[in-house]
Amino acid sequence: MDPQSTIRLRTGHDMPRLGLGTWQLTDGTAGAIEEALRIGYRMFDTAVDYGSQAGLGMGLQRSGIERGDIYIVTKIEEDDTPLDAVRRDLDELGLDYANLTLIHRPPENGAGEALWEGLIRAREDGLVRDIGVSNYSSDMLDTLAAATGETPVVNQIEWSPFGHSDVLQDHHRARNIVLMGYSPLTRGERLDDPQLHDIAAQHQRTPAQIILRWNLQRGIVPLPKANQTSHIEENFALYDFSLSDDDMQRIDRMNEMWSALGSSVAYA
Ligand SMILES: NC(=O)c1ccc[n+]([C@@H]2O[C@H](COP(=O)([O-])OP(=O)(O)OC[C@H]3O[C@@H](n4cnc5c(N)ncnc54)[C@H](OP(=O)(O)O)[C@@H]3O)[C@@H](O)[C@H]2O)c1
Repeated sequence: MDPQSTIRLRTGHDMPRLGLGTWQLTDGTAGAIEEALRIGYRMFDTAVDYGSQAGLGMGLQRSGIERGDIYIVTKIEEDDTPLDAVRRDLDELGLDYANLTLIHRPPENGAGEALWEGLIRAREDGLVRDIGVSNYSSDMLDTLAAATGETPVVNQIEWSPFGHSDVLQDHHRARNIVLMGYSPLTRGERLDDPQLHDIAAQHQRTPAQIILRWNLQRGIVPLPKANQTSHIEENFALYDFSLSDDDMQRIDRMNEMWSALGSSVAYA
């Protein structure tokens, strides 16, 4: 694994193994994106309600990096008309396609079949390369796939040492669905955990780096958000050390079905 390592999706497209989250990345967004690109990030996760799309687009443009080398994840909402929403987001970003567009969360009723059909159409129209979901339980995902004949390539859910699920990961692996992990750094709430500090001290790394490396070694694609350049840098410096099997198991055992957001589908 190196900083430019990718995961091949079922469709044959390659996705970076780590991306920058942009929720609340609203102060000086373009500058933070430029910094991230300079450091080596190539994937960015956004959504219309993050308020970061315009700044993200500006940062991409200013960097001069070719579109083909960048991977953009967008999301549609329950009350969106999918094609209109995809076009609106692309306009805001100043792009003509997204690499991956997700249903942000399942609607209140059903598994989001109509939204999904809309995303299939957006893909056929060349507006998005791949389509997936977010905040879907395994059951909900199977329901969607059975109803529409198309399985999402990605499910983006909350994932940290303190809240994750082997059962869900096994289910997704069997269907070739890649798991993206959001709020991987627990929104900063659990970074002072003594066990994490202990492992971090052994590797002369930080707790954030230990969490992110654990994600990479488990095959999860983490999306740490960071505004501060020192954090952006730290969260990408993951490729010159590795966790032993013992470290991995120790971190696995920290699971207590905890969620920074209050609840997670990982436990369904
Ligand atoms: N699909 C969904 O429903 C959903 C839900 C939530 C999040 N997400 C996505 O996942 C991304 C990440 O999740 P998140 O923003 O909730 O939380 P997070 O990435 O777990 O935590 C972000 C917080 O951690 C801090 N931080 C970053 N790197 C650090 C480091 N090395 N050491 C100490 N603190 C550090 C950041 O500070 P600074 O900003 O000050 O650097 C920020 O306060 C979001 O931005 C979004 O793209 C998706």
